[in-house]
Amino acid sequence: MNATFSGRDHHGLLGDMTSKTLTVPAAALGTWAWGDSGEAGDGYFGSELTASGLREVVEKAHAGGFTLWDTAVVYGMGHSETVLAQALTGYDRSEYQLSTKFTPQAASDGADPVADMLEQSLNRLRTEYVDLYWIHNPADVARWTPLLIPLLRSGKIKHVGVSNHNLQQIALADEILGAAGFRVEAVQNHYSLLYRNSERAGILDHCREHDVRFFSYMVLEQGALSGRYGPAHPLPAGTNRAAAYNSILPRLQALTDRMRAIGAARGASAADVATAWAIAKGTTPIIGVTKESYVDGLIRARGMDLTAAEVAELEALANAADVNTRGWWEQELPPAAATLDE
Ligand SMILES: NC(=O)c1ccc[n+]([C@@H]2O[C@H](COP(=O)([O-])OP(=O)(O)OC[C@H]3O[C@@H](n4cnc5c(N)ncnc54)[C@H](OP(=O)(O)O)[C@@H]3O)[C@@H](O)[C@H]2O)c1
Repeated sequence: MNATFSGRDHHGLLGDMTSKTLTVPAAALGTWAWGDSGEAGDGYFGSELTASGLREVVEKAHAGGFTLWDTAVVYGMGHSETVLAQALTGYDRSEYQLSTKFTPQAASDGADPVADMLEQSLNRLRTEYVDLYWIHNPADVARWTPLLIPLLRSGKIKHVGVSNHNLQQIALADEILGAAGFRVEAVQNHYSLLYRNSERAGILDHCREHDVRFFSYMVLEQGALSGRYGPAHPLPAGTNRAAAYNSILPRLQALTDRMRAIGAARGASAADVATAWAIAKGTTPIIGVTKESYVDGLIRARGMDLTAAEVAELEALANAADVNTRGWWEQELPPAAATLDE
């Protein structure tokens, strides 16, 4: 199960050294906000998404080589998976990759809650298998991780990753899977210019050293770092993301102004610079694409080589903003030294 993620083709695709290796485009596409579309959904983002708009996103993304779709049962409680499957209608299953998650807090009372939740996802996603299956958070690593093993053996899941886990929890999951000949092949954590805790906790280094792909989520801080929103044009009123970010928008201004300027010099936007930063850090950003035009931004970000000086300048401005954007569902990650001492 040695996943090797090295080498790039003209689409910036990483890896595929063996038939068992997950091919990872330069960025994955996130569909949490898609759970808000239509009549269902929880209004978390306040995005006004339509089925035809999402189909356009898929067509443009696939044409650009972005074929890895990240979702979860809990995004709109099934609605994100359902509308994603609808938007993918007509594409051959071999043309795209699906990433979804087991969320411990939504587990059934059955004998095998992981298999139960996967089965529901397979039905909604209208597929026989998931390319990348995640344990969504570390609620009980020793309890849930072993239940992935029969699903890997059956081929219903091709690769596994852990999300929101700290270094010790990643190591425990890897040990459990390793005893059965499998491994943690990917980690998915919040990682943005404003929230670099996985870096400080040594998780990025761990992934680099152990050939584990690191997927960064909320690279745009749900739009707060996209350059589209600011004190004069805040995130949609009444939504969770407005509650989380609107009060800090004034402190992000210097950073987003600089991102905008760096982007403008290359015909790109502030959001593209945020995505390019995550790629420059050796991670695979999962970008929440809600509009067809945002896919153009991914294409620009993929081709943008930020200099080391630009990366350092952006990080210094992000530090100066002095905000904590940790999600309510995320645990504190101990800094690397503290982790090693424990
Ligand atoms: N494992 C976990 O616990 C976890 C947690 C959070 C997220 N995730 C995954 O990561 C994905 C990304 O996170 P996210 O969707 O919460 O936040 P995000 O990617 O940081 O931000 C998405 C928002 O940014 C705006 N945006 C996207 N592309 C843009 C562009 N090119 N230009 C300008 N604005 C742009 C859109 O807002 P507007 O629609 O308002 O323009 C969109 O709703 C999720 O969809 C999900 O798949 C995983």
